[in-house]
Amino acid sequence: MRYDLNDKVVLITGASGGIGAATARALYDRGAYLVLADHNADAVERLAGEFDAERVLAAPLDVTDAPATRALVARAVTRFTRVDVVIANAGIAWRDGPATLSSCDEAEFERIVDVDLFGVWRTVRAALPEVTRNRGQILITSSIYALLNGMANAPYAASKAAVATLGRTLRTELAGTGASAGVIYPGWTATPIAEIAFGGNALATRLNATALPRLLRARVAPETVAEAIVAGLQRRAPRIVVPARWRAVFALRGVLDPLLDRWLDGHTQIHGLLRQVAGEKPRADEPRGAPAANDAPAQGGERLNEHSS
Ligand SMILES: NC(=O)c1ccc[n+]([C@@H]2O[C@H](COP(=O)([O-])OP(=O)(O)OC[C@H]3O[C@@H](n4cnc5c(N)ncnc54)[C@H](O)[C@@H]3O)[C@@H](O)[C@H]2O)c1
Repeated sequence: MRYDLNDKVVLITGASGGIGAATARALYDRGAYLVLADHNADAVERLAGEFDAERVLAAPLDVTDAPATRALVARAVTRFTRVDVVIANAGIAWRDGPATLSSCDEAEFERIVDVDLFGVWRTVRAALPEVTRNRGQILITSSIYALLNGMANAPYAASKAAVATLGRTLRTELAGTGASAGVIYPGWTATPIAEIAFGGNALATRLNATALPRLLRARVAPETVAEAIVAGLQRRAPRIVVPARWRAVFALRGVLDPLLDRWLDGHTQIHGLLRQVAGEKPRADEPRGAPAANDAPAQGGERLNEHSS
């Protein structure tokens, strides 16, 4: 049966980012009440200003803060009497540029996992009693990084794979309660978090251009992801893979995983780029990688070297 979003109370974390804000607008258009939570207090207030004040609650929230996450759910219930849907969407990646497991800053690695994995867990845990009571839904934002090799992006990729498993587990554990859970795997989307791989950092841009075919590199608008979220919630979808071109990768991942890793094992150009990401000189037999033609102008390689050293 179609899940009607009209009059449902939807809490979104990371609400003022590209995907979060587009999703908030799309859900508002379907008649939902919004609880908008984001680390960026000004941006979430600005976003809330777009909507009828009767139908929106905006709150600063750091998803690494479990008591604050629980308190926000309680505040939303006080304000709207219920929370039906929670979208655990807040996420971060490297601040300045890619890094390898040997070169990355340990505190930054742990912060990414704290937001992208434990932040989702805290959101799920805080929301579960209310969502279950209302036979609602929890949607977890994973990524196509859950389907790929995480080279130079390990804490992000590992967290996204982990939250995908969390979401699948949750769906099964909720079976029979009337509530449900789903996972969204967005492909590259034109939002700030993706800028590093599209000209924001020279090495990330080259790695992206070398490792992925052009079709899979194309970014979609956050509004496309938002519409897929709406459609997915309406049918209580277990998984949402958007854009559609990633569905084949998703379906074939058992076959593609070993093939991709093997291809990477032998790819000297990528090995050379990873050496540079780690702040080392590429070996003589490792090409430095072609410039990322057709992507936005690359900058920031110097910044990356500072970061990695
Ligand atoms: N853009 C892409 O290509 C892409 C692809 C796949 C998955 N995703 C995922 O989609 C989600 C939304 O990302 P986006 O593309 O809109 O990027 P974005 O950077 O525009 O939005 C992320 C939002 O999360 C917020 N945030 C960061 N740390 C937080 C914290 N500790 N507590 C609460 N909020 C916090 C930020 O303030 C920001 O508003 C993320 O989980 C991201 O990993 C994005």
